[in-house]
Amino acid sequence: MQVANKYIFDIKPYVPGKPIEDVKRQLKLKSVIKLASNENPYPPSPKAVEAMTKTARGVNRYPDGGCFLLRRALAKHLKVGENQLIFGNGSDEIIVLAVKAFVGQGDEVIIAKPSFLIYEIACCLAGAKIHQVPLKNFRYDLKGMKDKLSKRTRMVFLGNPDNPAGTYINTREVADFMKTVGKQALVFFDEAYFEYVHAKDYPDTIQLMKTYPNVITARTFSKMYALAGLRIGYGIGQPRMVDILNRLREPFNVNSLAQAAAVAALSDQGYYRRIAREVEQQRRYLYRCLEGMGLPYEESFTNFILIQIKNAAQIANALLRKGVIIRDMNVWGLKGFIRVSIGTPLENKRFIQTLGEII
Ligand SMILES: Cc1ncc(COP(=O)(O)O)c(C=O)c1O
Repeated sequence: MQVANKYIFDIKPYVPGKPIEDVKRQLKLKSVIKLASNENPYPPSPKAVEAMTKTARGVNRYPDGGCFLLRRALAKHLKVGENQLIFGNGSDEIIVLAVKAFVGQGDEVIIAKPSFLIYEIACCLAGAKIHQVPLKNFRYDLKGMKDKLSKRTRMVFLGNPDNPAGTYINTREVADFMKTVGKQALVFFDEAYFEYVHAKDYPDTIQLMKTYPNVITARTFSKMYALAGLRIGYGIGQPRMVDILNRLREPFNVNSLAQAAAVAALSDQGYYRRIAREVEQQRRYLYRCLEGMGLPYEESFTNFILIQIKNAAQIANALLRKGVIIRDMNVWGLKGFIRVSIGTPLENKRFIQTLGEII
């Protein structure tokens, strides 16, 4: 048999949150809740569901490879040119496309640690030399990242807010960082949780790319828009940047149900604003409960919370046995932490009650 590329064996396969049905089957449980993949616990907007149902009859045809209707709707929503958008099979695909386009064997990339694992996996696949810069107090150490910049740096990843810490970098910090990077390396802003952030000093990267054509921003319909199962995300960049990524993507990378649902979801902002408010209330509820239990947590600007807890692996396992799926952060290099997605009020109550019983 052919021998696979050597660097493939350096890749730690991504371990996703366990699916509800798997846990029900394996543990013979009737009721299981999942707070493990930062999904929206609510269904998508009824308009999106209706659009999918209508579109379902036409799936004998290939999708529109150029995502014409979605491109038009999203460009209007974001106030950017239609040629500034690239769509992907989840924003994961935008990450992979950017790495494919810009990073070659032996090139250097800079990633925070811990950070969203796909950055590392994609860069490993490209055979890159990865500089991992530890977070400081669960925030990006931009000074440490600057210190790693060199002539060989091809890409810097800024998850904002990042997963698993849930913290963000602000306008001033980003401006200062960009001054040092200049126009040399690609700076990839991952804004998967954009719709959850209401901080006034959150950076406007669409403005930033007017000065820095080496900036690209990825966002997704998986989180706030509740379309994770359809796999649809997008990148925003200058037309030249978008053109480069567009050359690499597969011709029909975004399916027709996803395109139709995303257009409809964009048209129902009121529905999602209500969810955003609910998440904010529930986040405060969880903070109060965690404080009551004496468990330290990071203030989060997303729909998940990183919680410090002794024996995290055992706790995660005990929760699982009682039908509550969360994530032990050991795999991400954070021993003694769990990450919990914010669910519906009932789900959050069940998590807190079950956790209380266990500890
Ligand atoms: C920081 C971050 N970026 C990107 C993604 C991927 O999202 P998508 O479903 O759009 O591929 C996630 C998903 O958890 C994430 O946490």
